[in-house]
Amino acid sequence: LKIVVLISGSGSNLQSIIDAIEEKKLNAKIECVISDREAYGIERAKKHNIKTYLFNRKELKKNLFNEIEKVISNDIDLIILAGFLSIVSSEFIKKWENKIINIHPSLLPKFGGKGMYGMNVHRAVVENKEIESGCTVHFVTNEIDGGEIIAQKKVPVYEKDTAEDVQKRVLEKEHELLVEAIKILEKDKKKR
Ligand code: GRF
Repeated sequence: LKIVVLISGSGSNLQSIIDAIEEKKLNAKIECVISDREAYGIERAKKHNIKTYLFNRKELKKNLFNEIEKVISNDIDLIILAGFLSIVSSEFIKKWENKIINIHPSLLPKFGGKGMYGMNVHRAVVENKEIESGCTVHFVTNEIDGGEIIAQKKVPVYEKDTAEDVQKRVLEKEHELLVEAIKILEKDKKKR
């Protein structure tokens, strides 16, 4: 399975894919890692000799995905948004329909949509006195966090939890969930 990973931050989700591949738990190859800003995740890719591309979302603005498009070869099987914070253009989604997945740190459809990313999600979960949260891997469509759900994992939320407590508990599950979701899609690809 040929994959491309898009990041914007620390890249701990990227790291979980790298580790799974190196431990032979995932039969895939990361063709390249693409970031829309300076990100520690780029260092993680470099450490594993994975090709990286850095784009400047502030300069490129609406042109970001036209530039990203140029570095993704047509034989890519899966494009993974892993802690990626820019909105994907509708042209890009149209071209790569059903080959783009995203990992989101809540049990979608709850706590998803515009502005719901990173700590905002966990703060909302705590403020809402939720007794559970979790993470979701879904296909990317033009509706932010609205595409078909592939897999989810749940975590308990305790009364004394801070948003950071929830974030830490969810992030650990994200690392497992993302690899499991890629495996599900790899099996599907084999079937087709
Ligand atoms: C985290 O908030 C994670 O929940 C979301 O993106 C953020 C950073 O992830 N998916 P990463 O460590 O950059 O993979």
